[in-house]
Amino acid sequence: MTSSTRQHRKTGPHIILGIETSCDDTSVALVSAERQILAHQTASSAQIHATHGGVVPEIAAREHLHSLHGVITATLKEAALSVSDIDGVAATAGPGLIGGVIVGTMTAKAMASALSVPYYAVNHLEGHALTARLTDGISYPFLLLLVSGGHTQLLIVKGLGDYERLGTTMDDAAGEAFDKGAAVMGLGYPGGPAIQRLAEQGERGAVRLPVPRQSARDCHFSFSGLKTAFAQSYNSLSEADRQARQADYAASLQEAIAEALARRTKFAMQEFTEKLPEVTERQLVIAGGVAANQAVRDRLAELAESMSFRLVTPPISLCTDNGAMIAWVGQEYHQSGISSPLDFAPRPRWPLDDTAPPPPGRGVRQA
Ligand code: KG4
Ligand code: ZN
Repeated sequence: MTSSTRQHRKTGPHIILGIETSCDDTSVALVSAERQILAHQTASSAQIHATHGGVVPEIAAREHLHSLHGVITATLKEAALSVSDIDGVAATAGPGLIGGVIVGTMTAKAMASALSVPYYAVNHLEGHALTARLTDGISYPFLLLLVSGGHTQLLIVKGLGDYERLGTTMDDAAGEAFDKGAAVMGLGYPGGPAIQRLAEQGERGAVRLPVPRQSARDCHFSFSGLKTAFAQSYNSLSEADRQARQADYAASLQEAIAEALARRTKFAMQEFTEKLPEVTERQLVIAGGVAANQAVRDRLAELAESMSFRLVTPPISLCTDNGAMIAWVGQEYHQSGISSPLDFAPRPRWPLDDTAPPPPGRGVRQA
């Protein structure tokens, strides 16, 4: 399936082509220095993975290889541009499923080399992190809640490439909590959108579930206890009760995840204010696939209002993985005059703040 989120068409200097291939979407965009998405095309292999209950890395890599050339061509066509109009090529170089990352990286390097333009090796997490600068033009610094299928982190974004991680997950990511909850109920993959749809007919709080780490005095997350409690409760029901109460389970799981995110974010807001007292316009950005969830957005809007933070939520189409966010990070590095060497090696693990200590109970640092 190919989708397009074209907003404007504009030719001119400083156009960056961005390539995203770190998971199951082959997504390409052209973004101008003036924050315009000139063209944006995505081919997704999600439907193929759905039959396997999750993304199969080998299949994803092969699909990227199969689709990427066509998606790049379609993106250029959408913008009515040719390769000679491109001023730089950016691609996700990690973290992510390494087969797909290699496909995108090698293509970007080959294009940059053939066109004699700079190459930008982009951290996928920085793509999510800076999306609000593309969509809303917000200034540094800001507090970021990054919630995706692989990551759940709270970070202070101080500037381009300059991050302080306040917290991360001790086990599962928030997206995994949605995906695993959906799997327990046989809703298929990805679980987040399915849970959200089902939750609309359910009553939140109808099923009593634990809000993880609700009174912790730090910014770290944990979702494995919630996942286990949810699975035990649901699996203990009769088949008839499962049918009757599925929507209540979806709404209650969604509610517990949103509440857990809001409580840790509140703590991070206090840390942000203590660390940066001189910042008068305090901003909270939410990014990543789970930021597409309406209940999460609503709960964080409520929190932001009570804490006098401005909440910035990118449009839902740019919360999940996309080429525009990668092109935009390339654009920011392009404007800073920092490019990447052509021998930059793809990285399956690539933390935004590699000096951050691990969360309690975890010996190894996460990407
Ligand atoms: O950022 P993303 O597209 O890919 C990663 O980098 O991981 O995030 C994918 C995750 C999946 O776990 C998916 O279930 C979740 O985001 N997700 C949602 C929604 N849309 C996507 N979770 C809750 N509600 C949604 N509407
Ligand atoms: Zn992502």
